[in-house]
Amino acid sequence: MRVIIRKTYEEISKEAANLVKSRIEKKPDLVLGLATGSTPLGLYKELIRMNKENLISFKRVKTFNLDEYYGLSGDHPQSYRYFMNTNLFDHIDIDKSNTMVPDGTAEDWEEFCRYYENQIKKAGGIDLQVLGIGSDGHIAFNEPGSSLSSRTRLVALDAQTIEDNSRFFQDKSQVPRFALSMGVGTILEAKEIILVANGKNKAYAIAQAIEGPVTSLISASALQMHQRVTFFLDEQAASELKRVNYYKFVEEAEKKIGKEIF
Ligand code: F6R
Repeated sequence: MRVIIRKTYEEISKEAANLVKSRIEKKPDLVLGLATGSTPLGLYKELIRMNKENLISFKRVKTFNLDEYYGLSGDHPQSYRYFMNTNLFDHIDIDKSNTMVPDGTAEDWEEFCRYYENQIKKAGGIDLQVLGIGSDGHIAFNEPGSSLSSRTRLVALDAQTIEDNSRFFQDKSQVPRFALSMGVGTILEAKEIILVANGKNKAYAIAQAIEGPVTSLISASALQMHQRVTFFLDEQAASELKRVNYYKFVEEAEKKIGKEIF
């Protein structure tokens, strides 16, 4: 695992965007897994800037989002489809028909989840997955206790997640209680993963995910089982890590050999 720590959110957003850019340069038809929430906004802003300045193109890129609130249609302002359109897709040269977000209105959600997994397979699998992390250690909507081999499915949202996400709704009662979400097993099949985290309220989850035991109680800890993961953390999110000196040492070593060390 690579752990990149910087002072500010702006710096980690830029570094994460540079990694995405380098992967698109290598593979212009990259299959990119995307997250919503406040964390990736800085990264998306940077990707939009790079696209506007003709430094990268999304013309051949295909995207799959991690999750969607169940019960919200794509034109609902709090739906993740709406979020992705307004915060990224509407501002870059991507073909919208190449952007996939789980359908929160699918009546037969079991059938839809099978279809979504199949679409990912048909695309050749996810090349690079972007993740945020919940304050309880969740990735996508894999709440504590989710099987580490779970697949795309309907999940009941944890009280903590409903509380955390209520800031986007008029009041807590409006936060959907269910979501369709890729499973931890689905995420682990991505060929490469980056996780971005900032702020003190992520420090515990980050310390558990990187240095704690692998446990379904912190779904992000399953990333320890993956061979190509990079964490981009601001100093606050990294503040409970014990091995910061080692992560810095590895970064220096990377500079010396001019290669990423996972
Ligand atoms: C959203 C998602 C969630 C968020 C997490 C952190 O698609 O997958 O796991 O990444 O809840 O959310 P923020 O970034 O708002 O703190």
